[in-house]
Amino acid sequence: VSRLVLDTDLALGSPGSEIDDGFALALAVADRDLDLELVTTVHGNIDVASATALTGELLDRLGRTDIPVVRGAAAPLLRPGAADGVPPRVADLVAARPPAPGYAAVEIARHVMSAPGEVTLLAVGPLTNVAVALALEPDLAHAVRQIVLMGGVYTRGTNQHGMPGEFNVWVDPEAAAAVFASGAPVRAVGLDVTLQVRLTRQHAEAMRSGPGRFGPYAGDCTLAWIDHMRERHPGDPDAADSCAMHDPLAVAAVSHPELLTWRPARVHVVTDSQAARGMTVADLLTTADAPEANCQIAVGVDVPRFMSYLTDHLSRV
Ligand code: RIB
Ligand code: CA
Repeated sequence: VSRLVLDTDLALGSPGSEIDDGFALALAVADRDLDLELVTTVHGNIDVASATALTGELLDRLGRTDIPVVRGAAAPLLRPGAADGVPPRVADLVAARPPAPGYAAVEIARHVMSAPGEVTLLAVGPLTNVAVALALEPDLAHAVRQIVLMGGVYTRGTNQHGMPGEFNVWVDPEAAAAVFASGAPVRAVGLDVTLQVRLTRQHAEAMRSGPGRFGPYAGDCTLAWIDHMRERHPGDPDAADSCAMHDPLAVAAVSHPELLTWRPARVHVVTDSQAARGMTVADLLTTADAPEANCQIAVGVDVPRFMSYLTDHLSRV
């Protein structure tokens, strides 16, 4: 069983906002190979206050009132404007429960340092909290069992001029660069792989009429999110009938890494170019003068096995 801290920009429950962090949280709760001990929140898909309230609400819905939620960074390390354009704040959201005291970066560092070598840090939002935690505690990079992150895009591009890098890295490139430079064992699950694992309208309909506390609620949210994405991406045929399960795939990377194919790589995050800021460049170490690896990147996924893992586990919560 892997001891786990999850850092998330969860927005499930806010109409028009990404749903996949909520699926990742539910999956981490459902998977008995994971022991989710702490959840921390970060700006990204939504403002951090809303992410915190929505995370508490979802954990309560899942019957896990015992898992603390600690609020984290409200903005990227530099250039706060980078996150402009994320969905609006949930104005009238009433927090299902107040957050636990403290700040995410401090609690991440404290938690990992309390059990060196044991705790995995799973980051599925912008990496601001993780970078601050690494700066606060110089031994963190060696004490953490591994950092698994959903972020970057390694074997293709985003093909979007307005967001040339994958969202989580693009929003806070300096933080991402600090994580890759930290020396911690990092596994990165990028957009090129996560776009392959998709929840369809049929999946959502099945969840809606299924058992449990999560399925009916999440099924409704999924159908609304697919409708929203279809409008926003009229040129993407995939977006018409399905949505990507980016963050749940990073959960699988912790408990079932064999569902993905991994390669050592040296990842560089572009921070010093206006046009390419937030892009990731992965050297796959194929040349004679290859640099040293600084992470493992996912380069493939067994889609049918992952989808069974996801839907089976989600039907249990
Ligand atoms: O690029 C995918 C990532 O950004 C995921 O973490 C998802 O939640 C999104 O907004
Ligand atoms: Ca996310």
